[in-house]
Amino acid sequence: MKKVSLDELAPGMKLARDVILDDGRFLLLKGFTIKNRYLDKIRMYNIPYVYVEDEIGKVEYFSEEKVYTETFQTIKSVMDTVRGGGDVNLPVIKETVDTIVQKILNDDNVFMKLTGIRDIDNYTYLHSVDVCIYSVIAGKSLNMSIDEINELALGAILHDIGKCKVPLTILNKPARLTADEYNIIKDHTRYGYDIAIKTPGVTEEVARIALLHHEHWDGSGYPMGLSGEEIDYMARIVAVADVYDALTANRVYRKRYMPHEAAEYIMANSASHFDYEILKKFLDNIAIYPADIIVLLNTGEIARVVESKEKESLRPKVMVITRKDGPPVLEPYEIDLMKNPTVFIVDILS
Ligand SMILES: [Fe+2]
Repeated sequence: MKKVSLDELAPGMKLARDVILDDGRFLLLKGFTIKNRYLDKIRMYNIPYVYVEDEIGKVEYFSEEKVYTETFQTIKSVMDTVRGGGDVNLPVIKETVDTIVQKILNDDNVFMKLTGIRDIDNYTYLHSVDVCIYSVIAGKSLNMSIDEINELALGAILHDIGKCKVPLTILNKPARLTADEYNIIKDHTRYGYDIAIKTPGVTEEVARIALLHHEHWDGSGYPMGLSGEEIDYMARIVAVADVYDALTANRVYRKRYMPHEAAEYIMANSASHFDYEILKKFLDNIAIYPADIIVLLNTGEIARVVESKEKESLRPKVMVITRKDGPPVLEPYEIDLMKNPTVFIVDILS
């Protein structure tokens, strides 16, 4: 940890201590990575210096964020090119997807703090990156081979490529879709298959992920109404990742679900849509609160998720560091959500 003045502070540095105002209010919390907008905030409150983590921590975090951002930019540029009538630039996608796979094979949770930060404008692109990350973690936990995981990752990042053939007026329509419009949206699965299969280097298995990711285990999905094991295994994984990610994103028409709410929602409303074995593995491994994220509790307390030796959980231990309203917390204290059933997470703040 080192003390840096405002002049030395730069985007990408990670706060090693909370930044507290003279009146006791928290301005920024430990663990935040400095972004330009935070610099403005710190300047506004005349904070003379802050504590940041040393160089090594900074580099590690930055590299994950860099991979995530690069993957987002790659899929955005590929999708924009396809929308303009161009071809899929497969080598560039493969390169970034391979990096994601390599990192996740070393550490499941490496990207988990970055997923789910989608803004509404870039929803489709960030959704593709997140679905890729979740699918790779699921594939690893399902003991797939490295070759299979690479195929899965490529299919996952391309799963919605067919949306490039859907008019933006329908794709971004802020109101309820008509039956005709919904049918056009559904065509993104067939379009996606066509775009993928004509790309040199894309296998039939990968293209079929785009085709089949909206099929349901009980046969109620589209475009073909396949059921059970008729649906390709990799498409079944991407189907779960797709729905989980859609639920946990902020959308124009609703606020995002918290991970535990999304897990409950899927189990209660749509378990019959998915391969149960995959769904269970997925929720055990992905629907979690990673250590260090800042959450708001239903009690109004703001807390940091504590790193634990056990598997990270939907009801983690948290360290209360401040309150939304009311006096600051002078001595942080721990709550084990597993042992306190009336306390739960209502929002993720960072
Ligand atoms: Fe889709």
